Amino acid sequence: MNVEGKAYRTIWLAQDGKTVEIIDQTKLPHEFTTVRLSNLEDAARAIRDMLVRGAPLIGATAAYGVCVALEDDASDARIAQVYETLLSTRPTAVNLRWALDDMRARLLALPREQRQRAAYRRAAEICDEDVEICSSIGDHGRDLISGLWEAKDRKGVINLLTHCNAGWLATVDWGTAIAPIYKAHDAGIPVHVWVDETRPRNQGASLTAWELGRHGVPHTVIVDNVGGHLMQHGQVDACIVGTDRTTAGGDVCNKIGTYLKALAADANSVPFYVALPSPTIDWTIEDGLRDIPIEQRDASEVSHITGRTDQGDVATVKLTPDGSPAANYAFDVTPARYVTGLITERGVCAASRDGLEALFPERKTL
Ligand code: MRU
Repeated sequence: MNVEGKAYRTIWLAQDGKTVEIIDQTKLPHEFTTVRLSNLEDAARAIRDMLVRGAPLIGATAAYGVCVALEDDASDARIAQVYETLLSTRPTAVNLRWALDDMRARLLALPREQRQRAAYRRAAEICDEDVEICSSIGDHGRDLISGLWEAKDRKGVINLLTHCNAGWLATVDWGTAIAPIYKAHDAGIPVHVWVDETRPRNQGASLTAWELGRHGVPHTVIVDNVGGHLMQHGQVDACIVGTDRTTAGGDVCNKIGTYLKALAADANSVPFYVALPSPTIDWTIEDGLRDIPIEQRDASEVSHITGRTDQGDVATVKLTPDGSPAANYAFDVTPARYVTGLITERGVCAASRDGLEALFPERKTL
């Protein structure tokens, strides 16, 4: 993504070759600032406090977190401690565990003195792979959008609805759900995006809208409850969302509110697509409702809201009456039956074990 004339990924190795830089996403859309991660605590805090967020970027940050954590000690015991510390930062996005498992397995197989260099090499590869994967998701998703455009005899605009932020900022580059939109826009297909604001942290209003604006993609921010109304009135051609964990059976866990959009899409015969890189598939579980841990965050994210005044001051205000408790469930699970298709780096498949195994035969169970 180009920001003020400079091409950025969302995470990169600093010039010193041993620290890592990220974009502080808690400051967007008002301020574009970068932050340096120099040690384990920095990396864990960046994930826990959501300076970085989005399943693929959480995985990439964890991989680099391992690198910066091994500066003085690359022993088995240190690797175990680093693994546990980073794994405990957020519970739902499975890319975190995927990246940590990958790093740990490779490093433990090496002599101690080779481990840190190997860690940096592998973290860089994980980032490069994510960019390639997301670009391929974009190509497959663009073809779907192109099909919708053909079905409309290339007339009018393709209206897409997305929830939360599954764009460039949620990955290393391109995004998952937004990559198809960028590629369709770049291919000259007239797209317009309905952007769910995505309370309580407003990743749609603050991050997705910011990204789409920078890329020149027409979009409109809506409050979270508008989608059903738009779908009833034929104003949504398809929904495309990302996911933090998809089960081997095709159940999709994503930002809270996704399930309600899927129900509205089903009721109104609007296609509901989920875009995901293969590290987001949790092959160890089938039933998302039963087996995916749902993060619950601080109630203050619901009771309060932070923004910037027209004078440029950051302000946090309280919305709820004193004494009213608030609950903050961060994710929900959309059962596979409501998902029209999964857009992966290898193509589009049915949200089912058969569908996923057809694209990833190496994961086929007997
Ligand atoms: O809590 P977040 O911001 O980390 O959650 C991110 C999401 O839920 C995204 O919508 C999802 O697509 C995963 S990232 C591609």
